[in-house]
Amino acid sequence: MTEDDVMPILELRGIDKHFSSVHALKSVSLKIGRGETIALVGENGAGKSTLMKILTGVYEKDKGDILIEGKKHNITSPLYAKKIGIGQVYQQAELIPELTAAENILIGEMGFSRKGLVNWKELKKRACAFIEKYQLSIDPDEKIKNMSVANRQLVSIVKVLQRNPKILIFDEPTAVFSNLEVSLLMSLIDQLKRDQITIIYISHRLEEVFKVADRIAIMRDGYLVSVIDNVNVKKEDLIQQMLGRKSSSMFPEKANLTSEEKILEVRNLSSEKIKNVSFSLRQGEILGIAGLVGSGRTELARAVYGLDRIKAGGIYIDGKEVKIRSPVDAVKHGLFLAPEDRRGEGLVLVRSIKNNIILSNFRSISRHGVCHTKSENSATQALKDKLSIKADSIHTLVGNLSGGNQQKVIIAKALLASPRILIFDEPTQGIDVGAKSEIYALLTKMREEGMSIIFISSEIEELQGICTRIIVMRNGAITGEVESGLEDGEKILNLMYRS
Ligand SMILES: Nc1ncnc2c1ncn2[C@@H]1O[C@H](COP(=O)(O)OP(=O)(O)OP(=O)(O)O)[C@@H](O)[C@H]1O
Ligand SMILES: [Mg+2]
Repeated sequence: MTEDDVMPILELRGIDKHFSSVHALKSVSLKIGRGETIALVGENGAGKSTLMKILTGVYEKDKGDILIEGKKHNITSPLYAKKIGIGQVYQQAELIPELTAAENILIGEMGFSRKGLVNWKELKKRACAFIEKYQLSIDPDEKIKNMSVANRQLVSIVKVLQRNPKILIFDEPTAVFSNLEVSLLMSLIDQLKRDQITIIYISHRLEEVFKVADRIAIMRDGYLVSVIDNVNVKKEDLIQQMLGRKSSSMFPEKANLTSEEKILEVRNLSSEKIKNVSFSLRQGEILGIAGLVGSGRTELARAVYGLDRIKAGGIYIDGKEVKIRSPVDAVKHGLFLAPEDRRGEGLVLVRSIKNNIILSNFRSISRHGVCHTKSENSATQALKDKLSIKADSIHTLVGNLSGGNQQKVIIAKALLASPRILIFDEPTQGIDVGAKSEIYALLTKMREEGMSIIFISSEIEELQGICTRIIVMRNGAITGEVESGLEDGEKILNLMYRS
């Protein structure tokens, strides 16, 4: 189907948007056909989420027209967007943990019966019908807080689906997913496509994009630079169009590890969530931790960092046992954790880039206990440049940055702390391909300078690309270890899924 054959379900004409001095969208025009799946790709800060927020009534456009089935609409509020059939799947953070799946799906729905009362029974039946229709493995009566991340995401999707949207937007739905969960989502999307729902799909994971999209729209620096059919597209070509330049090879060269010295040793560690975990980290090593979401990787990091209570076992640094009861203890012993949940634990959204980076960090740039604004500024500026954090200045609020750029601020924080042992939990989540390879190069450089790194990731390819060894977790325990190297992908998967 070419886009001119039938009336497009959605047409954008010359959409423009500024945030004070940031020109986020530059005359974006796009037509999408009914039942089509369009993937939207581009570097961090390219304008993808902003474009979607204009469609869902979160932001107002400065200029341009939005046409739904040929009719112009001025989308002034999220409610308006819902009414005309535009739905967005939000991250599971929008769900209420204490309520059940069904309650979460129904909340906010005004199902009035003729007597003027909310007809919960009817609504619940409808929610269950959706769960059944799409054969989702969720129990409507289970509380959200007891569900896996993937199932929560499915609940978010059903919540949107039961309003029968014509256009459904996914903005990085799989950022926190492992492979198995991604494939669950892919099969759900296949069904939605068969039901002729129009889908706009944003992701930095290009394999997913190639799997779901009919066409791929590429954004760069606020412009929509091209729209291509998803037929025989080469990954390198797509990346080149996204970055506007040829990308160098994704992973830096791996140097051989010279030191056998164990800087960190964890022996038989148990907490509420992890069981009898033992491993060691060698000086100057990047040790990968693989596993499904919920396998205990984050909990292991939390236990080592003094965030979760340790029930049994010990932690040894340079061969000596240390007691780590809080992050303060951990930092004292040279550890630093860059957490996975950037919006929750990692960053203060209402503070500036600079304040976030120097928060808990000022020791390294203050002399004799006095903080020097000038040195703070230059240190922060240097990191902003080094990581190409896209923002007006170091004083921009972190809450106003694109998702990927927020992630880079966390990395900057870790770099400034320059710990001996750095624990990174999903550092490349939501980061575009160009920035990713920059981060790999940085980590490798830090390693060469003697830092030892624990790298938790859901992407096996990147673990293999930069780690020296990879340990695999499942159900709170370590199921195995592999020497890194591309031939071991199969083995890692087996260890991840083995019951
Ligand atoms: N509320 C806001 N206030 C100020 N600037 C903003 C705001 N929202 C977005 N921006 C800026 O607009 C630009 C586009 O951001 P957007 O979030 O659309 O990028 P994105 O393509 O979704 O990136 P990512 O892949 O990192 O999620 C960025 O420079 C961002 O900092
Ligand atoms: Mg975004």
